[in-house]
Amino acid sequence: MPSFTITNIHAREIIDCRGWPTVQADVWVDGQVRGRADVASGRSTGSHEAHVLLDGDPSRYRGLGVLKAVDNVNNVIGPELIGWDVTEQRKIDLAMKAMDGTADKTNLGANAILGVSLAVARAAANVSGISLYRYINPNAHVLPVPLMNCLNGGKLTANELEIQEFIFMPVGATSYAHALQMTTEINEVLRDMVIDKYGILATNTGDEGGFATPMRGIWEPFEFMSRAVEQAGHVDDIVYAMDLAANSWFNIGTNLYQLDGKVYDRDALIELYRQVAEKYPLVSMEDPLHEEDFEGFSLLTGGLDMQIVGDDLFVTNVDRLRQGVQRGAANAMLFKVNQIGTLTEALDAAEFAYRNSYGVQVSERSGETEDPIISDLVVALNSGQIKTGMPIRGERTSKHNRLLQIEEELGAAGVYAGRNFVRPT
Ligand code: PGA
Ligand code: ZN
Repeated sequence: MPSFTITNIHAREIIDCRGWPTVQADVWVDGQVRGRADVASGRSTGSHEAHVLLDGDPSRYRGLGVLKAVDNVNNVIGPELIGWDVTEQRKIDLAMKAMDGTADKTNLGANAILGVSLAVARAAANVSGISLYRYINPNAHVLPVPLMNCLNGGKLTANELEIQEFIFMPVGATSYAHALQMTTEINEVLRDMVIDKYGILATNTGDEGGFATPMRGIWEPFEFMSRAVEQAGHVDDIVYAMDLAANSWFNIGTNLYQLDGKVYDRDALIELYRQVAEKYPLVSMEDPLHEEDFEGFSLLTGGLDMQIVGDDLFVTNVDRLRQGVQRGAANAMLFKVNQIGTLTEALDAAEFAYRNSYGVQVSERSGETEDPIISDLVVALNSGQIKTGMPIRGERTSKHNRLLQIEEELGAAGVYAGRNFVRPT
């Protein structure tokens, strides 16, 4: 019988893909088995997200250091959890929440708490000798459809495109491996098309690996994407999605949206979305309106037959999601563990979503490390959909490559969600 007793917890400051500091936590069991996890961070964040504790010391990393959060793990949380059973994830997470004592984890920092929470889960899986996805859910078997955000704008790029992510989804692929193959085939055609029109510099990429081109508005990116898909020979296998991240182009003062030199009120914007959906197989939109407009989200969800995902709207928070469910706002939740700060609370939010017939889309953050933990989480949740960037650069490829490993490990038991990505079986 292995021992499950936590014997040591240690955190350190590491850097993410932007070169910004973040927390890495190690949880040791019986002095021998380790679980390690990194904490990702956002740039296009919702205002209701849990608190990321930064040092604010301008002499280090321009104030972005996380030594206070690291210290909170090493000297506050760690000593408290020595001797606990590492498999008691829920008790541990709730204890850390209580130690912090605030609604948004301001005291200890969501980055400190989440590092420990995820490392606890990894350590428990390692002691049990099984993969994390299977430790969390023995019935885990769904390989997700990846949402490939090939053209990037908004806060994640240095261009003038307001909409953050233009996405294609290889729903007609037969496996995750096949979905990745199609993705690269399409992306290479897209790259050539971008060079043809805008030159080689336009193939520089944004935070999540999509091209950061001088394209404008909403129609031009769709024209490019659909032509690339056609030329690559994958028309029948691809549908489209967007993360509008509408907060970043909404003007609170005027209550209007500013897109490509024009202003839109809510109704005009919804009409624009309807027109896009009429022309292209658009199946999913994330944050199509600003984060406080529950009423607008419910109008849109009732009016358009597609998946409407709440990211900044819900921030992986059961209380925000409950409001959404009550008002029929959106029909899916974006799942980002660091928005709420513990694995347990994020899993609770996902469960609440499922119980209310909402979909769950697991997501990267724009500031990632090589840690592929979300790949295990998306399979554990049988969620059917993951947003984890284009397959370039280590912090994105690590997630795709982990999903290839999981696909192989599951073998005949694995099912690629494909066209059933909202309700996979
Ligand atoms: P973020 O961006 O990680 O910077 O929040 C991703 C998103 O908005 O989905
Ligand atoms: Zn988003």
